[in-house]
Amino acid sequence: MELTKLVEGLPSVSATRPYFNHAVEFKRPTTTEERARMLESVGLNVFMFPAELVSGCDLLSDSGTTTMTNKQWASLHEGDVSYGSNRGYYLLARQVRETFGPEFFTEHAAPPNAFLFHQGRPAESALFTAIGRLGRNLTIPSNGHFDTTQANIEANGMRALSLFSPDLNGGSDSRFKGDMDVDALKKLLQASAANVPLVFITITNNTGWGQPVSMQNMREAAELAHHHGIPLFFDACRFAENAWFIKQHESGYGKKSISEIVREMFSHADGFTISFKKDGLANMGGGLFLRRNGLFFKKYPAVPDELIGSQILKEGNPTYGGISGRDIMTIVEGLKTATREEYLAHRIGQVRQFGERMLGEKLPVVTPFGGHAVYLDVNKFFDGTKMRPDDFGGISLTALLLAAYGHRACELGYFAFGKHDPKTGKESFPPNNFVRFAVPRLRYEQQDLESVSEAVKALHESRDKIPPVKATYGRDLPLRHFKARFEFAAR
Ligand SMILES: Cc1ncc(COP(=O)(O)O)c(C=O)c1O
Repeated sequence: MELTKLVEGLPSVSATRPYFNHAVEFKRPTTTEERARMLESVGLNVFMFPAELVSGCDLLSDSGTTTMTNKQWASLHEGDVSYGSNRGYYLLARQVRETFGPEFFTEHAAPPNAFLFHQGRPAESALFTAIGRLGRNLTIPSNGHFDTTQANIEANGMRALSLFSPDLNGGSDSRFKGDMDVDALKKLLQASAANVPLVFITITNNTGWGQPVSMQNMREAAELAHHHGIPLFFDACRFAENAWFIKQHESGYGKKSISEIVREMFSHADGFTISFKKDGLANMGGGLFLRRNGLFFKKYPAVPDELIGSQILKEGNPTYGGISGRDIMTIVEGLKTATREEYLAHRIGQVRQFGERMLGEKLPVVTPFGGHAVYLDVNKFFDGTKMRPDDFGGISLTALLLAAYGHRACELGYFAFGKHDPKTGKESFPPNNFVRFAVPRLRYEQQDLESVSEAVKALHESRDKIPPVKATYGRDLPLRHFKARFEFAAR
């Protein structure tokens, strides 16, 4: 009998990871006592806790935390750190054209259409500084501005308006809860298109819990914006993860390759900002790319030169833009891996499995799961206990998770996005109160993430005993979650 026939008759089993370990780093073992003492010494602020003492999973961020592939490590050695026009500049130009479309990076174009920055936010800063000079009372609408994007828009005197999909907080079973509310966009543009210099779409929608955006939504937003003569921009940090969701869940895309889907997504954009620390699979790097002869280019002809001015003042020669020539090489390789289907199936599948495990433990996590993180609903977690909103249970939870089990997660809820009014002594709260477990790319195995869900379950079973915290420093400061110190308080 033929071997292929024999094989066909056998049942299928679960798949292995699509890669194996090339090099490993042993962690420094720590004790709960050592972690607890260290955490107390930094006022329970997990951002200030030494990463070397995180003996479990470090789920603080998926940004810049990717484990690089052997090809990326090898490419570092081929990096050329020349001041002008390093080797990587040309390779990156070719790769950006290949991944996103031929119009987005023309080497040494005059005027330029591709701008490198050391990460995502300086690209946002340069863009919004230039846009902010174009007029007064300007509004930048989005499906959900990331916090640095919002801060850069506001720092330049403009309004950052997040038009989240009504599906995001509702009970809908939509697979594209990251969509922009196009009805709200339509109303805004009908009322005041002249005050809208750009429409932004963040893919995936990080502030909207990493939920993806559908192709239909991108198309509709582009049509609306273009109808009013307004360019459409992407915040493209997680473009490949977004494309994977489109392939899985949007009708008509199941048979298309990820590369085709990415090209179609970007066919709607007149430009994009990107942090290569996410789907670039690199540890550093960012950029801003304009469609050559696209609407943005035509409408704002003075902006490209302003952008290059900003690069020269703040980042160095535009051909490396604050990224070392070696790191540029890792971005080139990273972009090639990011759109591979077996990589994305594993990546998105790992986050989903982690979330499902939490659900299986009856933990209140947000569904459907997005691409890069699992979000735990802090209010539901403490439901039935004495924890009050201004007790900041999310901070208590992340502190205990780190001290007791060595896993680091991040409160993105009532403390991070709330505000304290020093006059009334009262706190105001954002709509959601989450702890986020962001999963770094290619770094952890399922066994590691299972340990996290077990630890969260153990804390959930003891939730009555988790004490509140009070801020001892920084409650009134902007971006207070990075700066504040806390102590556990008696109830
Ligand atoms: C959606 C989004 N936009 C922009 C940024 C900013 O990028 P960077 O951290 O490289 O400055 C981030 C970072 O997390 C992000 O998630």
